[in-house]
Amino acid sequence: MAPSSSTKRLVAIAVVTFLLAATSGHRQPVHLRLYMHDVMRGPGTTAIHLIHGVGPPHDVERGAYFGDTAAIDDVVTEEPDAGSRAVGRAQGTYMLASQHEEVLTVAITVELTAGPYNGSTFSVAGRVGVYDDKAEAAVVGGTGRLRRAAGYLTWRMVELVVSEKYVMVELDVHMSVPPVSAAGGNWWSSLLLRSIN
Ligand SMILES: *[C@@H]1O[C@H](CO)[C@@H](O)[C@H](O)[C@H]1NC(C)=O
Repeated sequence: MAPSSSTKRLVAIAVVTFLLAATSGHRQPVHLRLYMHDVMRGPGTTAIHLIHGVGPPHDVERGAYFGDTAAIDDVVTEEPDAGSRAVGRAQGTYMLASQHEEVLTVAITVELTAGPYNGSTFSVAGRVGVYDDKAEAAVVGGTGRLRRAAGYLTWRMVELVVSEKYVMVELDVHMSVPPVSAAGGNWWSSLLLRSIN
């Protein structure tokens, strides 16, 4: 039996109400403070040089060459202590991208392995000064519970042990994700729209 016109009208009102609710929702803020541990030497190495010494010697950074690139698979912790509980991995690359300044371009994805975002990831892209206390990079997206994440992070080197080639970086991540209703909106609105036609 075909739905009556009053039923159709009610469904149409429900769809409009739902779409309004979904689009007026505010993005949810997510704030994380994380520590990345780069170990470039010895047992437990988490960062390796993919490219080293191909470009011209760097103007400032001794022993480094323009274009030097490292692949990383760093342990991520919630506390600065490298031995504290791991809450994720940071995976991707760094490149010494300036010939004259100590500047890296970074392309990394952080997978969280504990807490409410266990199994979710966020991706970071940007240009960071190695010794800049207030370097910033962009959070350009995410997956899982962090799907469509957007925001920024500050990138600050808090420890450097040159002899061991150990570097610890603090990431202060400020991002937001869409409201849950909007994330589910496409599925519900297409179902409701189908029932009208
Ligand atoms: C994170 O999720 C994985 C896969 O669901 C699970 O095996 C693991 O125990 C979880 N870890 C924590 C710390 O909750």
